[in-house]
Order: sequence, then C-alpha cells, then structure tokens
Amino acid sequence: MVSFQKWTGRVLQQIRGVNPFDGDCLPTRVSLFGFGRPSLPFPHLWNYKNPIKIFETFYWDTEKETGSGKHNRFLYLAGLPPVLLTREPAVIKAVLSATGDKPGQFDRDQSPMAGIARATGVDSLLYSNGPTWRRQKKLSGEPFSRSNLFQPEKFHGFEQTFRKTVAERLETLRSHQQARGEKVSRIQLEPEIKIVMLEMLVNNFFGGSISDEELRNRFVPAIGMLIDHMISDTVAPVSLAFFRMFTGRNAILRQKMADFEALTDIALSGRAEGLGLWNQFKSDATDEALRSNIRVFLAGAMEATTSFASWAISHLAHAPDVQDQIYEEVKEVSVYDPDNLASAVTLNRVLEETLRLTPALYFLPRRATVDTWIETADHRRMFIPKGTQIRLDVWHANRCEEFWGKAVSGYPADTFAPDRWEVLASKGITAKEMLHFGFGHGPRFCPGRYLGLLEVGLVVGAVVKMFKFTAVGKETRAKAGVSTKPADGVLVDLQLRT
Ligand code: HEM
Repeated sequence: MVSFQKWTGRVLQQIRGVNPFDGDCLPTRVSLFGFGRPSLPFPHLWNYKNPIKIFETFYWDTEKETGSGKHNRFLYLAGLPPVLLTREPAVIKAVLSATGDKPGQFDRDQSPMAGIARATGVDSLLYSNGPTWRRQKKLSGEPFSRSNLFQPEKFHGFEQTFRKTVAERLETLRSHQQARGEKVSRIQLEPEIKIVMLEMLVNNFFGGSISDEELRNRFVPAIGMLIDHMISDTVAPVSLAFFRMFTGRNAILRQKMADFEALTDIALSGRAEGLGLWNQFKSDATDEALRSNIRVFLAGAMEATTSFASWAISHLAHAPDVQDQIYEEVKEVSVYDPDNLASAVTLNRVLEETLRLTPALYFLPRRATVDTWIETADHRRMFIPKGTQIRLDVWHANRCEEFWGKAVSGYPADTFAPDRWEVLASKGITAKEMLHFGFGHGPRFCPGRYLGLLEVGLVVGAVVKMFKFTAVGKETRAKAGVSTKPADGVLVDLQLRT
C-alpha cells in the first residue's frame, strides 16, 4: 500500500510534467489523449481484447522524437507509479538480464497476470518471484534441461512417442479427407494443433493415457475457456463476474476448472510409477507443492506451443516455395534426432523467423523493486524509479525497421523472410547477437524451450511432409490474449502430397 505522502508526491510530479526517469536513454512521455490514436494507452473494458493496439498507441506520433525517446515511452498519471514501455532491444536485454531474486533486481510484474494466478496458483514458476521462484526453478530445471532432454536415450524415447502421436493425428486427417473423396479440404488447423500439443504433454511427457476423444471434447475446450477467461479476469474481475452470474457462465467456468483439475491429477498420477518425464524427476516435494507448476506446464505449454506451431504453419501457408524447400529437407527423414533437426536448415530458419515476427509471448512484464540504474551493452544508462511497471514490447521491437529492417537483415522488418537469417549469417551476425526474445532472455528464460522446439519442429515438419497447404485469406491478422495467434485459426486449403 503506497503512503498518502508518496501518492501526493507523484501527483505533484505528474502535474508539473516531471520525467521520473533519467540517464542517456531517456524515455519520453505519452499523453493520456491524442487525436487519431488507435486506443487509450491502458487496458479497459472496451480495448482489453486488443493489447497490441494499446501498445501501438504508445508509439503514435513519435517521429518527432530522436534517439531512445522514440522507442522508450512512459505513462505517468493518477498518482500511480510510471508505466515504461520499450521496444528497444538493447534496453529489453538489459532489463531481462537484471531480473531475478537478488536484492535490487527486477521482478516479473504480476499485475497483468492476476487471472493466470487465480487459475493456476500463486506459487508457480511463472507467477512467483524471489525465493519461491528460485525454489521452483531448481525443482523443474533438471527434467527440461538441454543436456537431459537431448541425451540420446532420453531424446529418442520422447521423439518416438511424440512422432507417433503426430503421425496418428495427421493420419486421422488424411483418412477423413480420403473418405470424403476430396482432393482439397478447407480446414482450420489451429484446433487440431492444440489437441496434438496437449496429447504430447499429458500422454507422452507426463505418462498419461487420455483418449483423443476426451482430449478433443473435454480437456482442450476446458483449457481454452480458462485461458480466454484469464485476461478478462485480470482486467475486470468484479464487473465481468457480475455479468457472468446472469448468463450462467460462472457455472460453466466452474465445470471447466474442475476438468482442468482432473487433468492435473492425471498428469501427477504418473509420478508414483515414474512414467514419462517423471522418471527424470528427483525431488521429495509433495504432489501438492508441484500442482501449480503442473497446471502452468499444461495450460501454458499448450498455449505457447500451439501459438508457435500455428504461426509457423500460417506463415508457410502464404509461402508455398518455402514449404517445398522444407519438404525436400524432411521427405527422407524418419527420425528427428538433434543432428537431423540441425541439418533441416530451412525448417530451423522458419522457426526462428516465426518467433521473431510473431512471438507467442508478445510482451514480458517486469517491475522495479527499488530505484535502479540499468546499463545497455553499449554503455548507455537509464534510471528506473522503484515501482515502475515495465512492459518489454517484444512484438514491436521485432517489427521495428531500425533494428530488423532491410539495412540490417536484407528484408523489411515486418515481413516473414526466413532468408534474413542467411543474410545475417553472411555478415557474421548470429541469432545470439540479434535477440528476438521469443523464449525470453536472462535468468527467467523459458525452461520449456528445448521441449517446445522439439514439439513444434516435429509438428511443422510432419504437416509439410504430408500436405501442401494454402492460406485462404490474403493476409493473416494477429489476435492477442495470453499469447498471440493467427486470427483466422490457420484457415487453409489442405491437399495431400501423395
Ligand atoms: C515452444 C513454445 C514456447 C514459447 C514460445 C515460450 C516462451 C516463453 C517466454 C518468452 C518466456 C519468458 C517470459 C518472461 O520472461 O517473462 C517463457 C517462460 C516460461 N515458460 Fe515457456 N515457452 C514455450 C514453451 C514452454 C513449455 C513447453 C513449457 C513447459 C513445459 C514452458 C514453461 C515456461 C515457464 C514455467 C516459464 C517461466 C520461467 C521463469 O519465470 O523462470 N514454456 N516461455
């Protein structure tokens, strides 16, 4: 709770137009109103379904700004702490590197995640900060590590079961198409991808044995509804709950929550027998202590991997020549081991470019726990006052011509161009130097990166191997909630290759 004195101090600063930041990459102020802007610069009941538009508003009319003020913007009003939005990669990297549990480091800002916490629990690796986060990170780091997941025996165990799952699901799609005697079927692929992703997690990774039908009809819709609910539950928990009371939606939500709990029980039940991932998990933590994390792994991982694979397939649906290049790489591949995956150069570039242009997590929230100076790699400094809510706007950073455009990578920043990675490589620039933050960066980097890449690589490779697909719409817009997704649900015309 902020003291009255602190609050009035802020109000006075705000009225006088004081910039609470300092340093040589100084953010500039966004005013509350502006003629012709896409939206108000904060979420409210009428705009919360379009967060990317809210972020866009921060950069409206910044052409007149020079240097960092174009990319670092702040909102400061109503006696509240400042909100800093940045699309400058050097600043994003500096903040992510200075996030953690040491004194003075940034926390993950929990305010845009209240709905997530109510659905999954407050002690999860995703939501918690400080010692709880450190403990959770230690607990779950081991099974997800590259050295563990990519050890040949372990890798092959997962890869085989994952591949079998993907092949079975695609086979169903193929039989369905053949039975109807259609050469080309029009279909939304995102719902199918979701099912495969959840099946890989629950059945292959956690050793469950849930049928396709139950996943499709019970568990995927339950998680889908809860994820949609997480955003409205953050923005307007009270007023929307009141509305839901009269529409019967509260009862439906309670049922979906019960289904999600049942799914969490199934994932946890493999622990005693050491099924799936559990045989790599050495810990005396109780099942109850792990529950929040299992919920995050189920809902979060399904959401993030579905977003990533959906975007990759959606981009490829607009680029038949790139599909053919991947087909040439994977047509003879029957085992997706680390070597084969590494040699599928186009597939890897497509995945990298997908995360750059359309990152699943489009912004990363942080909060300054004390007055902090950050320093960028090129020694510019920024003072960030205690309490500042920081929004690292990865979506717009990766689309900014200055950082990713033609002069830097040979292609306009806002287009899907896997070949830009070749241009960058020819200049001796690696993906490590050109960070797109698709899996985050620094201590709170995504622990599921290798698992996620394996799953998405398998799904995209398998879809290209079996089908040719063309986007129905001319261009695909993004919708954003907890993650971003293609707004058309990946609506494609699908044709069997053989
Ligand atoms: C392949 C698709 C995935 C993408 C694009 C993705 C992306 C990300 C990003 C960007 C972050 C950093 C968030 C931040 O810094 O605020 C993150 C964190 C996290 N991811 Fe992933 N993720 C993916 C898959 C997974 C999977 C498969 C799991 C687990 C099974 C997972 C679990 C987590 C958790 C628990 C965190 C929080 C880590 C921490 O705060 O220490 N993710 N993810």
